[in-house]
Amino acid sequence: MKITKAVIPVAGLGTRFLPASKAIPKEMLTIVDRPTIQYIVEEVVASGIEEIILVTSEGKSAIENHFDYDFELETVLKAKGKDVLCEEISHISNLIDIVSVRQKKPLGLGHAIWTTRKVVGNQPFVVLLGDDLVLSDTPCTQQMIELYDDCQESIVAIQRVPLDQTSQYGIVEGERVREGVVRVERMFEKPKPGVTTSDLAIIGRYILQPEIFEILGGIQPGHGGEIQLTDALLTLAHRRPMYAYEFKGTRYDAGDKLGYLKAIIAFALRHPTLGKEFRKHIKEICVDL
Ligand code: UTP
Repeated sequence: MKITKAVIPVAGLGTRFLPASKAIPKEMLTIVDRPTIQYIVEEVVASGIEEIILVTSEGKSAIENHFDYDFELETVLKAKGKDVLCEEISHISNLIDIVSVRQKKPLGLGHAIWTTRKVVGNQPFVVLLGDDLVLSDTPCTQQMIELYDDCQESIVAIQRVPLDQTSQYGIVEGERVREGVVRVERMFEKPKPGVTTSDLAIIGRYILQPEIFEILGGIQPGHGGEIQLTDALLTLAHRRPMYAYEFKGTRYDAGDKLGYLKAIIAFALRHPTLGKEFRKHIKEICVDL
């Protein structure tokens, strides 16, 4: 079945990014010249998805407004002859159909995804975390859809991480079925040292079969009182095949202060108009480090 819907959860509290995220959603913090969430929506659009379901919460309306049509702003820009800017603003509101679903309490990523069950319906869908950026030649979501077209089963995107960092991630173990693809056999949420020797960490891109909703609905709150997606993924992986895919590209955790800074540098270096000057500046200041 063709994948047409993407779920983007943005309802989290963003505590790692306080105080910046107190009044501004962390997904609206700027990477060079646009908010993090716009890169993610652009990845979805470039991957051929037709509809986005945003999982929002109180205080996140700036995200919905960013993708809305702003009649007043466009009228003023037109009147001032700022046609290029006006077109760019209008382009953002025309990117894709977006519907919003409210997560009334921040009960975890699993719960956020579960709230979209009626809007997604009985079809496979993509999930992209609203603070996870991937810089790649082919959009990460498109790479995953290409694999899905072959296997028609759930897929989690993975990257290799240093072994002393595995306790910060969901980690998968399994059998390698081809270059960059592992059939998932076991999964650990933030494992303590010694629990696994695998360095395959799940990042914020998933393709899920709709069965996940029924599984999520039956899951009891785990770590931190939250409904953990990893618990549901493991149950799903026991019922039918699930694959872990080592995507081509670099992932940045823009919901973390250091990850955010790294993302700014990486995206700025590749920026079409600012990149060259920025690279020159970085080289100059690096001499003094
Ligand atoms: P994170 O754990 O990175 O986000 O969740 P968080 O909870 O906002 O941040 P911290 O840890 O307090 O700093 C990954 C994604 O899942 C969403 C977040 O918005 C983020 O995009 N999320 C998380 C929800 O939508 N609802 C939740 O209950 C939890």
